Amino acid sequence: MTKLEKAKQYEKEHQLSEDQLPAFHYAAPIGWINDPNGFSFFDGKVHLFAQYHPYNNQWGPMHWLHQTTENFIDWTLEGCALAPDQDYDHAGVFSGSAIEKDGKHFLMYTGVRKDENGEFQQQCLAIGDGKNYEKLKNNPVIPTSLIPQGFSEIHFRDPKVWKEGDRYFVVCGSLDEKGQGQAILFSSDDLMNWKFENVMAHSKGTFGSMWECPDFFELDGTPILMFSPQDMRAKGLEFHNGHNSVWLTGPFENHQFKDFTAHSLDYGLDFYAPQSVLLPDGRRVMIAWMASWDNPIFKKDFDFAGQMTFPREIWMQEGKLMQKPVRELEENRINPVHLSDIKIDGTFKNEKIAGRCSELIIRFKETQNLSALILGLAKSEKEEFESTLTWYTHQNLLEFDRTWSGMTSDSNAIRRAKAPEGGIQEIRVLIDRFSIEIFINDGEMVMSNAITTPIFADEIEIETIGSCKADIDFYTIQT
Ligand code: FRU
Repeated sequence: MTKLEKAKQYEKEHQLSEDQLPAFHYAAPIGWINDPNGFSFFDGKVHLFAQYHPYNNQWGPMHWLHQTTENFIDWTLEGCALAPDQDYDHAGVFSGSAIEKDGKHFLMYTGVRKDENGEFQQQCLAIGDGKNYEKLKNNPVIPTSLIPQGFSEIHFRDPKVWKEGDRYFVVCGSLDEKGQGQAILFSSDDLMNWKFENVMAHSKGTFGSMWECPDFFELDGTPILMFSPQDMRAKGLEFHNGHNSVWLTGPFENHQFKDFTAHSLDYGLDFYAPQSVLLPDGRRVMIAWMASWDNPIFKKDFDFAGQMTFPREIWMQEGKLMQKPVRELEENRINPVHLSDIKIDGTFKNEKIAGRCSELIIRFKETQNLSALILGLAKSEKEEFESTLTWYTHQNLLEFDRTWSGMTSDSNAIRRAKAPEGGIQEIRVLIDRFSIEIFINDGEMVMSNAITTPIFADEIEIETIGSCKADIDFYTIQT
């Protein structure tokens, strides 16, 4: 049996039941996932692959998991698509992307090879029909010999491919000779033969070491590079320590950022390695691994580890990169509860507003007498479990706290962030069995968080210091 057949058989035999997995977030049928890979539109469907180790809930020799969707909520398991089964990728089929060419689906990934001379990361292709994929005979198509001398051969990975006119481009994460992160660009006429172009953007001592999972695209006319720098040091409330995900823009000429300003992409505890896709209807949708290398919280007795964020439409507005759940979510709303002009002064609770597969929207009408608002989520009656979002209005500060979410590890439980300058007009929360995603002001700011709270903890409570007036909408998400 080949490695691929073995993985497919294993996932079939060990597939978890629906109630053991997130209800409306992408996760593995069994085992571990990290980065989203190959996010693409092909043959009428959205395809999303992921870094995958089916055999236990830990990172291991990397495979690619494949699932497809037509509404971003229901994912069809296509199964393991790539296994580390070749000489040039036996140590791992690492992250990458996908593109359509001549009616075929091309996957571009990093093949990791280890031998007596060390470790090499090189870019490889697999070609398929949306179901089955075959690796190219003459892989790797971007060998380490194509990178300029001095750039690391061990940290050269995560190709993101796109087309401009008749040419294909690929941006990869890289480390220069001084151990600084950068995004490097290659071009090709046919996806097979590549040449090095330039360094698209460089850390310049400010943005960590290795830049993992770069993604380049134009968003409403603005050139954007997203990437996940390792080993960052926090600056104020921006860029928490460790692995981050940021976006940058700036003067852009000949595929190079001459200068740039960078911003955090997400202010929660769990967000890494985002990747985007351009849909036929013109929307750019982004998804990320809703976990953190620095703060793993999935427990040893979980049979799966890792899940993706809910896919988000992204757009530029007044220089900000905005993100909100894809609109398909709205078609799956059931059991609506609408409350208008509610005065909250102390504690607010409503028996119809509860659940672990749901969406809550609070639109503020009056906040001038409000000092703090504490939103208790995934809360149990006995006060054993709860995750909170607190808005301190005078400091305009937000704090997410999952200390009582059932965590048993010593990972970070609290993240603080500055709320948008104009204050908060809307808080929108997506609650799934293993996550809480918070969207502020129609996408101005997002906090993504994983939780492992027992499912029976499904209450929602609002507490205020001072008072406020708000409209509240609540929905169950049908899956
Ligand atoms: C990012 C990353 C990538 C790599 C993959 C390996 O999370 O480290 O750089 O390709 O994960 O699983």
